[in-house]
Amino acid sequence: MTRVSPADQLSIALPKGRLEVRAVELLRSRGYDITVPDRQLVAEDTDGRVRVMLVKNSDLPTYVYHGIAGLGICGTDVIYESGYEFFRLLELPFGHTRMCLASRTDHDPEQDTGRLRVASKYTRFARDYFQERGIPCEIIKLAGSVELAPVLGLAPYIVDLVETGNTLIANNLHVVKELEEIKVVLIANPAYYKFHYKSIDALVDTLREGRA
Ligand code: PRP
Repeated sequence: MTRVSPADQLSIALPKGRLEVRAVELLRSRGYDITVPDRQLVAEDTDGRVRVMLVKNSDLPTYVYHGIAGLGICGTDVIYESGYEFFRLLELPFGHTRMCLASRTDHDPEQDTGRLRVASKYTRFARDYFQERGIPCEIIKLAGSVELAPVLGLAPYIVDLVETGNTLIANNLHVVKELEEIKVVLIANPAYYKFHYKSIDALVDTLREGRA
């Protein structure tokens, strides 16, 4: 295939790490010949149809909101935390997880008095979840390794993503309640979509149906 003109090239932000690998695999399986060399943060497929940018997971909505990338592949958890609205074009067949309330297995809920003390990376989600249900809470923001909070006594509860559950088990924690199913979706900056809808719709069809 000849290279597409730069005006028809689509820009896609991918989150570095686990989802990046799955997203690049998906593009490759659909005929986009793309390789991202180690430590390189921007790459194109050989036909120039797509340009991918590898960004930090939590920064991805910011790049798409500001139109630096027109499209993005991102978890609904991260989109919610950003507070931004996007067009959600397609749910992708990987990366499903659960947002859960968890505690130490030996925690006695009878000890909970007053406000629920919860540590989380997902403070917007956690605050809104409990407020909407009229449950008084104190949310403590952490940047990572949230499972440490109940182990070290910072907070009896965490709100965090659970995928395999192995991290909880390894730290003597358990799921108290599943709060929401988290999906990975293809998002678009609305203005970018209006200018590139033909190419974007073709990409969505390709990703959905498995043909390039
Ligand atoms: C996520 C999440 C849990 C873990 C759950 O953390 O916040 O810690 O994965 O996965 P599991 O149920 O399969 O064990 P991540 O790997 O993104 O690292 P972080 O805690 O440092 O943010």
